[in-house]
Amino acid sequence: MVSAAATLLFFFLSCVNLIPTTPAVEQRPFQTADGGVGGALGKSRKRVFPVPHTQEPDPVAGAYEYCNTPNRSEQALEGHSLPDYKLLSVQIMIRHGDRYPIYSIPKTKRPAIDCTLSSSRKPSHPLLNSFISHMGQGGQGHWESPLSSVPRLPNHSACEMGELTQTGVVQHLRNGQLLHHAYKHHNLLPPKWSPRQVWVETTGKSRTLQSGLAFLYGFIPDFDWSKLTVRHQWSTLFCGSACDCPARNRYLEEEQKRQYRIRVSDTELEKTYVDMARTLGVLTRQLRAANPIDSLLCHLCHGISFPCVPVGESGAGGCLTMAQFAVIRRQQLDDEVDRRQAKLYHKYAIMAMYPYLNRTATKMERVARDNEAGRQRRAGGEEVFTLSSAHDVTVAPLLSALGLEEARFPRFAARLVFELWKSPPAIQGQPKKKAGKGEKSKAKDGELFLRVLYNGEDVTFHTTFCRTHDRHAGQPLCPLKNFLSFVRKDMFRVVNATSYQEACYGRPV
Ligand SMILES: *[C@@H]1O[C@H](CO)[C@@H](O)[C@H](O)[C@H]1NC(C)=O
Ligand SMILES: *[C@@H]1O[C@H](CO)[C@@H](O)[C@H](O)[C@H]1NC(C)=O
Ligand SMILES: *[C@@H]1O[C@H](CO)[C@@H](O)[C@H](O)[C@H]1NC(C)=O
Ligand SMILES: *[C@@H]1O[C@H](CO)[C@@H](O)[C@H](O)[C@H]1NC(C)=O
Repeated sequence: MVSAAATLLFFFLSCVNLIPTTPAVEQRPFQTADGGVGGALGKSRKRVFPVPHTQEPDPVAGAYEYCNTPNRSEQALEGHSLPDYKLLSVQIMIRHGDRYPIYSIPKTKRPAIDCTLSSSRKPSHPLLNSFISHMGQGGQGHWESPLSSVPRLPNHSACEMGELTQTGVVQHLRNGQLLHHAYKHHNLLPPKWSPRQVWVETTGKSRTLQSGLAFLYGFIPDFDWSKLTVRHQWSTLFCGSACDCPARNRYLEEEQKRQYRIRVSDTELEKTYVDMARTLGVLTRQLRAANPIDSLLCHLCHGISFPCVPVGESGAGGCLTMAQFAVIRRQQLDDEVDRRQAKLYHKYAIMAMYPYLNRTATKMERVARDNEAGRQRRAGGEEVFTLSSAHDVTVAPLLSALGLEEARFPRFAARLVFELWKSPPAIQGQPKKKAGKGEKSKAKDGELFLRVLYNGEDVTFHTTFCRTHDRHAGQPLCPLKNFLSFVRKDMFRVVNATSYQEACYGRPV
């Protein structure tokens, strides 16, 4: 049974693109189709936070970055820390990899893409064949309902709507392998890890489930299926049993109105839609409802030329153009700037991601407690590795909630990583602050720190809770307690509240 609030949420998610004529076929992402591109763009290819630039950003170059074509080596600062610090836990949220469009452009041929997996097709990966055969044994794993009926591999010679492509699988095999190497020396997971130590969760879409499995396989090759439970998150917000939050929906509605206003005031965009619709011989509103950017991005990412229709009467006929694509992308970037200024999305995001952040914080505390000096470790260990396989409509609000407003919109196979670190018991040459009352016995224990990484880049000191931390004075890392007080209280300050309950129900917007 889906609650009223959930229905409402899906309603808003599907309308936030302001395409009220389309039914909510799937959860519709915030910006465009679960695949919308936005994201601050800079001239720099690599950096998550664009280097300030004086020229206008190039909307098409930014789109290639969004594709995340797995054809070059990538930076990964995960696992970097100070000597003698111990890595206690890693929690990762990923966006699924490259997928087939969710929408099709009326009157045009769908892009021809093969969603079966084959190591003779590019892009491939050395682990691809063993991954395919390992997925064949998935029946030995434990699957929370309804995941056991979701296919574990993409396998249609003509991709279905929204299906993960081979590119998407390879992106996550690479991600997993990258982090396998990054954490190898930190003994995060013992060779004989226990079922409790590895937590994997996903939404019920095949592309997220398959992305999560590809990541996990890269991270723990030939993992033991019998120890694995794959958990289901029914909401794209990963909010579990705490999804009800009326105020969140109100902010989303306001945000939707803002987005609508800025879009209709953009005459160049409106003219472009009219031109495109004329080319295709459809009504402008039909074209807008078909969310053409989603399919055009897929063409771009797969090197397929934009669709054409034969010339007919009444002026229809011709091809959609890169110039039209660039206008839609340009408007998305303008919208991002306006969105940051309006702050409605940020308020939405704070409430949307609180349940996930609260859970993340709680896990860290549990692992930290298990690692206290002189304490008997819990039999079977704690959750030291968590993988949440999600959508752009999950990762985008998470970035916003953390205060990473300037970060690029989540590309295919984006990853956000939380690392929990513990310093050695006595830090040499650094007089420790006096411990609080009653904490004498712990005074000699190491201290806890957090690192946050987005697509391999350390963004810890861009987050709201560590932006002002003076890392040059004594503590080069961000103290865990900053994060804890942010999640438990401070994050609600932007909505004039001190708790989730109060923020959601407290007072009218
Ligand atoms: C990787 O693919 C992208 C998109 O197709 C292309 O623009 C880029 O030049 C390629 N890079 C390399 C190193 O081949
Ligand atoms: C893919 O589907 C084909 C035909 O339905 C089947 O023969 C094949 O075993 C499937 N492959 C995988 C890896 O599931
Ligand atoms: C937040 O986490 C605490 C445990 O640390 C839990 O008791 C509480 O129910 C959580 N709140 C929400 C709204 O998820
Ligand atoms: C927050 O509370 C203050 C003082 O009570 C008030 O002036 C302000 O308008 C409130 N802001 C919001 C966003 O409700």
